Amino acid sequence: MNIPNTEPERQLFFIQQAKEHVGEIQKKLGRPLTFCVNTFGCQMNARDSEKLVGILEQIGYVEQESEEADFVIYNTCTVRENANLRVYGRLGYLHSLKKKNPHMMIALCGCMMQEEHVVAKLKKSYSFVDLIFGTHNIYKFPELLMNRFDSKGMIVDIWKDTDKIVENLPSERKYSFKSGVNIMFGCNNFCSYCIVPYVRGRERSRQPEHIIAEIKRLVADGVAEVMLLGQNVNSYGKNLEEPVTFAQLLEQIEGIEGLERIRFMTSHPKDLSDELIAVMKSSKKICSHMHLPVQSGSSRILKIMNRHYTREHYLEVVAKLRQAIPDISLTTDIIVGFPGETEEDFLDTLSLVREVGFDSAFTFIYSKRTGTPAAAMEDQVPEDIVKDRFDRLLATVQEVAHEKSARFTETTQEVLVEDYNKEKDLLTGRMGNNILVHFPGDASQIGTIVPVYLKECKGFYYLGEMTR
Ligand code: 5AD
Ligand code: SF4
Repeated sequence: MNIPNTEPERQLFFIQQAKEHVGEIQKKLGRPLTFCVNTFGCQMNARDSEKLVGILEQIGYVEQESEEADFVIYNTCTVRENANLRVYGRLGYLHSLKKKNPHMMIALCGCMMQEEHVVAKLKKSYSFVDLIFGTHNIYKFPELLMNRFDSKGMIVDIWKDTDKIVENLPSERKYSFKSGVNIMFGCNNFCSYCIVPYVRGRERSRQPEHIIAEIKRLVADGVAEVMLLGQNVNSYGKNLEEPVTFAQLLEQIEGIEGLERIRFMTSHPKDLSDELIAVMKSSKKICSHMHLPVQSGSSRILKIMNRHYTREHYLEVVAKLRQAIPDISLTTDIIVGFPGETEEDFLDTLSLVREVGFDSAFTFIYSKRTGTPAAAMEDQVPEDIVKDRFDRLLATVQEVAHEKSARFTETTQEVLVEDYNKEKDLLTGRMGNNILVHFPGDASQIGTIVPVYLKECKGFYYLGEMTR
């Protein structure tokens, strides 16, 4: 048999083989084989899961929500310790399902699998797992699956790093009208608390023409909104043979006919350029929303975090954004309890939240990640102090966000209709600034952009009425 050596041809070959294999089992059982993909963590993982779903559907598996399926994949996250603990906890439950269903297979992939101690533990104590792979070789899923079909034991394939980007494999979309699009993989920043650079590898940008071609295909297939994904989109394109800036990429994407909305995440404050702000200002499609993780309001802590900006620089960037796009919504990520954080540092964070006036913020308790510089730092902050700070931060964030989000009351906004709630007989849509609004309408409007008058702010969402 001639197995192709090039990608994606090689994986398409294995998809075909797996399809025949699954077809035979289905014939024997007289029923379809089902699968369930459970995704932990960020948008990057969500997009990876859509690729896994696309491949499994091509192979002939049928998706279902329940984990009582013939194939269960956990696409894992390891950015904070509790995500790991949840996976171990649920594996026990999966084992009990597997004992009842001899055809059941369990696969684990994603960031957690890039950690040696995790894989060692799985091999030792969770030998019922069928397939383990990592973040760099997710494109190889069809081949690995076929390897598992052909053998009896656990298949483990983890790469330490890669410079490879495989294009044009199948993928499914969770929503018909919006989609994530990877523009880059990995991260080079090494913030001292963060495990991402170790598990997602060095920064690699996709070629702009591949990105444009993918978005054109998505638009032709009914997508109105794309979310450009990267750990630090502001450094997109720096390492391409012919360097392209993120702002230039956005301009090219803006030109795609039929595409209505462009979002992106995540931006790093140190790399946010004036060029990007100018492009956002003149764009008709880029949403007026910026997710700009600040992590801490203390310049002293930011330095130890290796963030390469100060509180003052962050505030300057915010001022520039607001000057160019007065209505822009700003959201952020904040960590409390980083090693050495004093009450004074923490108060700097609280005052920054008020000074910026974030529309919303994800708040995290610092989690010690083995192998990162921060894990070895002295002065880890005691748990009770961290918990107290976290509660105070959350209260401040909610108070500020509450005040902020009401500012669009009694205005009319363009809203992308995303969902229909049967019980309440209301549509749910998302404004460009990412805030939700509920309003009367019918399900046929899902996926379209409609003008909605915002009657009343209910904290984090609005009640409104369509104006046409
Ligand atoms: N502990 C707590 N939060 C973390 N994040 C990243 N690493 C850690 C950690 N070790 C948060 C950061 C980042 C978000 C995705 O997760 O705020 O922006
Ligand atoms: Fe982690 Fe910092 Fe990279 Fe974000 S920019 S993924 S926080 S190392």
